[in-house]
Amino acid sequence: MAVTIKKVSSDTELREVAALADKIWHECFTDIISIDQIDYMVEKFQSYKAMTKQLIEQDYSYYAVREDEELCGYIGVKPEKDDRFFLSKLYLRSDKRGRGIASLMLKKVFDEAERYGKTRVYLTVNKHNDHAIEVYKKTGFVIVDEAVTDIGSGYVMDDYIFEYEL
Ligand SMILES: CC(C)(COP(=O)(O)OP(=O)(O)OC[C@H]1O[C@@H](n2cnc3c(N)ncnc32)[C@H](O)[C@@H]1OP(=O)(O)O)[C@@H](O)C(=O)NCCC(=O)NCCS
Repeated sequence: MAVTIKKVSSDTELREVAALADKIWHECFTDIISIDQIDYMVEKFQSYKAMTKQLIEQDYSYYAVREDEELCGYIGVKPEKDDRFFLSKLYLRSDKRGRGIASLMLKKVFDEAERYGKTRVYLTVNKHNDHAIEVYKKTGFVIVDEAVTDIGSGYVMDDYIFEYEL
């Protein structure tokens, strides 16, 4: 397998990532949150429009994960003003999981955080997202807090906050 992880640098590529996000979110979160909430969150956070705004106004970067040129996952990150690097999104299509690609993705996140001079990477994960939680723990992330975040329209995110010391 030839896996590449490269920064999204064109509008066309961002649209491709948005389409993949829609697919993965509907495939992986149906056991955890309602379809209505998934639709709402995809539109609010992962649509082409939302991601364009994040790139322009919030200092986000997205990375496209490809195996043999085919887009199969993506990463979203953002440097904070303090010493932390926010891992906002880590998503891999279900048929590509369990094959070592996630570890390459996390390594890319740590490399980027170091490039920015950061000393900690943090993320939020739904308390019922058991597999992702295991992956983060195995990688060396530890739970530092919890957060219930109101995201509007009556929906909340009920998350653990994990942190990794670089
Ligand atoms: C989260 C996600 C990117 C992880 O990718 P994955 O391919 O499923 O991860 P893997 O199974 O390769 O596991 C990654 C590492 O954790 C380890 N791991 C996985 N499950 C484990 C468990 N139950 N206990 C201990 N270690 C475990 C694996 O051995 C692997 O380590 P290795 O590469 O050194 O062998 C992927 O599952 C995904 O996209 N899920 C849906 C979206 C999502 O929930 N994203 C996170 C939102 S916060």
